[in-house]
Amino acid sequence: MPSLPSSTQTVPETRQIPRHIAIIMDGNGRWAKQRFLPRIAGHKRGVDSVRSAVRTCAERGVEHLTLFAFSSENWRRPMDEVTFLMQLFIQALENEVAKLHQNNIRFRVIGDLSQFDRKIVQLIQDAEEKTKHNQKLTLTVAANYGGRWDILQAVNRMIRESPSKADGYAEADLAPYLAMCDTPEPDLFIRTGGEQRISNFLLWQLAYTELYFTDLLWPDFDARALDAAISSYQQRERRFGRTSEQLQATAEPRHRVSSV
Ligand code: IPE
Ligand code: IPE
Ligand code: MG
Repeated sequence: MPSLPSSTQTVPETRQIPRHIAIIMDGNGRWAKQRFLPRIAGHKRGVDSVRSAVRTCAERGVEHLTLFAFSSENWRRPMDEVTFLMQLFIQALENEVAKLHQNNIRFRVIGDLSQFDRKIVQLIQDAEEKTKHNQKLTLTVAANYGGRWDILQAVNRMIRESPSKADGYAEADLAPYLAMCDTPEPDLFIRTGGEQRISNFLLWQLAYTELYFTDLLWPDFDARALDAAISSYQQRERRFGRTSEQLQATAEPRHRVSSV
């Protein structure tokens, strides 16, 4: 598959509405704790925020939404919580895929699926197959995903398929093997829950992404909060290494005064 333009190789086109938003949905446990509820109650409420984010992105014209649902490090959590998260994932796959399909949304999962139950893997494959031609929005869920895992699996597959390259490998050689190779790099990264870190999310793909952090906890993240993130994004000057003056010189004049 030919790879998409890379932000470090060519300057990407930028738009008012981000084409691709990637979100770390954090703060479910704290949301529950504030209400004296078990952590799992926060995860349950988090599913409502996922629905709202998908709907709002589709309405605003975002083309790709990528959600971090379970990291390769989340296996370190108490077994009960991990089991609950897996059940919730199964439930969501069983209940939501038909609605996604009706709304012309393509669904897919990235991450190391070899660690998952056969039942989950089957549901994922069915959902991907059913929705693969949908075009309104691509919803990617990162499950048992880690940015380092992604880079390593790509390097290993690249070397397996082309074991040597005398003058060294280039970005373009690696790109087709990365999990998001058919998707433009994220324009906007959002992390809820107040922490300001990447937690091993899309390490390669976030090279030039605009970062946005909010203290809102994921179950409280609604359409208004997403719009606030998008308007913060619209204030950014995406220079991709160039100077501000260079950008202004190439900008389309906003109000051209017509000569008489
Ligand atoms: C994010 O919320 C959901 C997952 C990581 C699965 P957390 O469960 O991390 O919530 P906090 O950070 O403990 O509040
Ligand atoms: C990141 O959240 C992973 C997901 C949201 C799935 P964590 O809550 O696991 O991140 P850390 O451990 O605080 O960095
Ligand atoms: Mg957390």
